[in-house]
Amino acid sequence: MSIPDEFIQELKSRVDIEDVISNYVTLKKSGNRLVGLCPFHREKSPSFSVNKSGNYFHCFGCGAGGDIITFIRKIENVDYVDAIKIIAARAGMDVPEGKADDGLRRLKNRIYEANREAAHFFFDQLMKNPAGNNALKYLRGRCLSDSTIVHFGLGYSPPDRHQLTNHLLSKGFKGEELVAANLVLQSRNGSGKYFDTFSDRVMFPIMDLKGNVIAFGGRIMTDIKPKYLNTAETPVFNKRKNLFAMNFAKNHVKGQIILVEGYMDVIALHQAGFETAVATLGTALTPEQANKIKQYCEEVVICYDSDQAGKNATLRAINILRPAGLRIKVVHVPNGKDPDEFIKSYGEQGPSRYGLLLEQAPNDIEYRLSELRKSFDLNNADDKVKYLTQASDILSAIENPVERDVYSSKLSDDLNVQKKAMESLVERGVRKEQERAYREYNRQNRYNKMPDIIQMNPDRNVNIRAARAEEAIISVMMLNPDVAVKISGELKPEEFVTGFNRNIYTVLLKRLSNGLDVSISDVSGDFTVEEMSMLVRLIDSHVKENNPMSAVSTYISILREEGAKLTPSQIADADNDTIMELIRQTQKKKLGQS
Ligand code: GTP
Ligand code: MN
Repeated sequence: MSIPDEFIQELKSRVDIEDVISNYVTLKKSGNRLVGLCPFHREKSPSFSVNKSGNYFHCFGCGAGGDIITFIRKIENVDYVDAIKIIAARAGMDVPEGKADDGLRRLKNRIYEANREAAHFFFDQLMKNPAGNNALKYLRGRCLSDSTIVHFGLGYSPPDRHQLTNHLLSKGFKGEELVAANLVLQSRNGSGKYFDTFSDRVMFPIMDLKGNVIAFGGRIMTDIKPKYLNTAETPVFNKRKNLFAMNFAKNHVKGQIILVEGYMDVIALHQAGFETAVATLGTALTPEQANKIKQYCEEVVICYDSDQAGKNATLRAINILRPAGLRIKVVHVPNGKDPDEFIKSYGEQGPSRYGLLLEQAPNDIEYRLSELRKSFDLNNADDKVKYLTQASDILSAIENPVERDVYSSKLSDDLNVQKKAMESLVERGVRKEQERAYREYNRQNRYNKMPDIIQMNPDRNVNIRAARAEEAIISVMMLNPDVAVKISGELKPEEFVTGFNRNIYTVLLKRLSNGLDVSISDVSGDFTVEEMSMLVRLIDSHVKENNPMSAVSTYISILREEGAKLTPSQIADADNDTIMELIRQTQKKKLGQS
């Protein structure tokens, strides 16, 4: 029986790795991991750890590792399908048999319907019920017009935590459907009573690109924390993959999307005529979101808060947007304001002033250089050297050599230094980054020391340099979804030297060409329990590169160099014509041509 990948994705988004493993292992928090005594070998001090953000477990003692499905396979001693059934049963999900993926599809449709009904309910509470008066006053007090409130379908969740539950139950929704939608919570004290998730909050419906309501953000109107409460992950809602107001923005883009931090910023900007504004859903920008944006435009204007937190978030967003192939501009709203406050503070002039900020926004390189410049006194010779050195680091991370050259010229003109000097600084930076990546990739000792590697990949011992390059490439792919796609277009499986790694790479390529993810938490259907352990060890011992794409070029050239080497017996035994042909092939292989 094959289980649809969609179902497995849903299952993984609904079950928490900590919950599943906690049934077998007592876990304690330690740094950003959870640790406990390994259930797969006898030990007195804990070497078993769970990485929640990566969704995998790994024992440093015995080397066991994998995702939740691998965990259940090992601990219950069952096959892949049975492991999924066990996890699904505990999560209250029906495993689709054969083509009958209907259970999940039906549940998703019920959640969409329940969310739509809830949005109507919240809207009516706000606009038609005296209970919503305060909330309406609050929104109007924040300068939202009634037509903006209607356009975004804003609402109000009443304080009494039975109203929505009762309303939806009376409409024929089942309790468990409402819990799956996270509109309703179920009491854990044994009574099993249902109550509303949101109470006494202004409600912001979050929609997918088709206009389905997939979640809500609820803002409290006082200083009580948390300020915002968002719908948890559900079968229809993944906060890493969606963007607030993208459903509206996509109809207005003319080449550009404006990325802001808050729901209120998005709404204020749309009201002011900037209808391409979108926001993440309370988390940092993800590669998935960047790729979604890339489907609609070529350029993103980042307009985050101008405080330190906003600046840090801007740098992180730049590092996510660049690899997605987007051009970037950065708007810096003056005087510590967010876009919403900026527009409001100028009354009628607000929109045109904001428009000017957009027009004059520097691109990401200019922005980073100007931020850097602020910490130096350029009349001071020492400072000038420091500034140029650090600026060259920024430039050396640019992948496009023409672009690097443009900024080298600009900087050398601005600061009145010789362009040659600037260029050599930048080139040194490029080399430094490549060498650093190479050193770190050589540091994968933990993986190298595992004795069973040799059994699984017998080619490794005689091709150690190639094998390590292959392993670094595989790690980068599993850790960086966007880079994975680029590698897959460039490197052919035949170029791999060791068999085990070549097989792994082939599986990853096949997944990518089917539009599937290749992170460790997605691939367990394609690998054995032992292979999963190897992969977890591999990525867990991999030191992350600052610029994975440029590091990968180094790994690929090492692999090609190794792949092109002739064995001593080839050199000794080949006749004259053959040796010439082998040398020609060697040249081609080094350059990655086939
Ligand atoms: P206002 O304070 O009403 O102007 O809202 P804002 O949208 O400007 O919010 P802010 O700039 O404080 O935060 C930006 C975004 O971060 C919000 O829109 C939320 O998505 C998210 N956020 C802020 N506070 C919380 C919180 O307490 N919990 C969660 N989950 N997300 C939050
Ligand atoms: Mn705000």
